[in-house]
Amino acid sequence: MKLVLLVLLCSGFIGKLTKTQLVYKLKKIECLVNRTRVSNVSCHVKPVNWNLAVVNMDCFMIVPLLNPIIRIQVFTKDYSNQYKPFLVDVKIRICEVIERRNFIPYGVIIWKLFKRYTNVNHSCPFSGKLIARDGFLDTSLLPPFPQGLYQFSLIVTDTNSTTNDYVGTMKFFIQAMEQIKTKKPPSA
Ligand SMILES: *[C@@H]1O[C@H](CO)[C@@H](O)[C@H](O)[C@H]1NC(C)=O
Ligand SMILES: *[C@@H]1O[C@H](CO)[C@@H](O)[C@H](O)[C@H]1NC(C)=O
Ligand SMILES: *[C@@H]1O[C@H](CO)[C@@H](O)[C@H](O)[C@H]1NC(C)=O
Ligand SMILES: *[C@@H]1O[C@H](CO)[C@@H](O)[C@H](O)[C@H]1NC(C)=O
Repeated sequence: MKLVLLVLLCSGFIGKLTKTQLVYKLKKIECLVNRTRVSNVSCHVKPVNWNLAVVNMDCFMIVPLLNPIIRIQVFTKDYSNQYKPFLVDVKIRICEVIERRNFIPYGVIIWKLFKRYTNVNHSCPFSGKLIARDGFLDTSLLPPFPQGLYQFSLIVTDTNSTTNDYVGTMKFFIQAMEQIKTKKPPSA
């Protein structure tokens, strides 16, 4: 754990020294849902250039989300091509974050992303058609991850006073990499 943190700090430091620019490029997305609660699901990654790809998502909530909990887990792909847990495993009551009763860091990041890229930009509950357009993970939102392949898994469940039901899972496959610089046109 300590070693990983040290590596994180060092990679940030070396990044600054050599003036490399880290980007988090989206490679792929997978969406799975509880079909009794969610319909008309589409989720796609659209490549824009060498460094950027954006995500577009649509779905229809048959059952409104009253008090969703989002569990965020990060996995990193190791030398044996297996995804292993990587530092982050948190459960976020997103309504509390939206109502500013909770300032859990990854919750605040998710809420920023929702406000920027989705129509989920209001207080709970969430019902009807949910839309995300041209979303991407701005490097400034996250600590500098070591270069490599990651999976960000968001598992959504919804709670009321008696039950906690599974709603769906989004898996974002992301490459933390040095920004690819295209050749500048010669200055005449
Ligand atoms: C779901 O998709 C079907 C087929 O594309 C469409 O006819 C229907 O209106 C959609 N329903 C909602 C709620 O968006
Ligand atoms: C939320 O997003 C919708 C669709 O993008 C937009 O029309 C609306 O103005 C936004 N509302 C707020 C409070 O930002
Ligand atoms: C909680 O949700 C379950 C399943 O969705 C439902 O059967 C139950 O009536 C709900 N309870 C309350 C108190 O709303
Ligand atoms: C899907 O949602 C329904 C209704 O909320 C719930 O009864 C069911 O247990 C959920 N399915 C799974 C696999 O959790």
